[in-house]
Amino acid sequence: MKQLFGVIGDPIAHSMSPAMHNAAFKEAGIDAYYHPFHVKPEDLEEAVKGMKAIGVQGFNVTIPHKTSIIPLLDSIDPLAEAIGAVNTVVRVENRWVGFNTDGEGYVRALKEQCKEYLQNEPILIIGAGGAARGIYCTLAAHKVKQIDLCNRTVEKAQKLANDCPYETVTNVMNLQEAEKRLKDYSIIIQTTSIGMSPKTDESPLKIDELQPNTIVSDIVYNPIQTKFLLKAKQQGAIIQNGMKMFVYQGALAFEKWTGIFPDTHKMEQLVYQQLGGTYVNR
Ligand code: ATR
Repeated sequence: MKQLFGVIGDPIAHSMSPAMHNAAFKEAGIDAYYHPFHVKPEDLEEAVKGMKAIGVQGFNVTIPHKTSIIPLLDSIDPLAEAIGAVNTVVRVENRWVGFNTDGEGYVRALKEQCKEYLQNEPILIIGAGGAARGIYCTLAAHKVKQIDLCNRTVEKAQKLANDCPYETVTNVMNLQEAEKRLKDYSIIIQTTSIGMSPKTDESPLKIDELQPNTIVSDIVYNPIQTKFLLKAKQQGAIIQNGMKMFVYQGALAFEKWTGIFPDTHKMEQLVYQQLGGTYVNR
């Protein structure tokens, strides 16, 4: 019988996960189907129970359910618990087990494209929302020694640093301070939605002080190059958009469900096609 997987979110119509996962199932020769389920916040509890009842084998969780789903699951992986968000749910002996592959997806993408050994690189994260939380905790879990945080609301960044159970050194600052200290970092990670389509003219901070060869990464992938990344490139930075992170979080979820790690280049190619862009295999 065909196995059923999916993603729950609100809104969900524009999710690229179904195309990505259905292609990966086909490629792996697995008889399965991945469906986008539009689940409103007030229906979340019933949806989670219902999916168990009808035999769904696993699902992804997206905005706005990543945190509110936690009490509805049977158990949570320690990293997902530290991050406080779940994006992947796996059915294990009729129990829902929650994981977070967003942060791990990001770190894998960063390692593949930029730096295999991250531990000694001084890193700056811009932002302190959900995406920053996933990346910060995962980098700390990977034993990165220094991960500084800058945010419009400094208290939120401080809270993120305090909440993380993994050991790392963190200086917390506002955006103006960060602008003056950019040369101190070899990797800068933009985790806010600033610059995302349709507000493509916005940028989180000025990067005039950026050193050439700094790795500058933006989790946004629509547009493929944000204003922030374009400016960084003009200053000689090595840039990375959020596409690989998206693809790797999906690939890691697929691996948790099937035991198979899919071809991420093919997945990336497919998502670029969906966005109407051109894929370059680097
Ligand atoms: P997500 O879960 O997608 O990360 P979020 O939790 O709403 O989203 O967090 C958004 C991040 O973008 C925060 O770091 C936020 O800064 P504040 O904590 O000060 O709100 C940042 N952000 C959003 N809009 C911003 C803006 N116009 N200027 C600066 N920072 C902004």
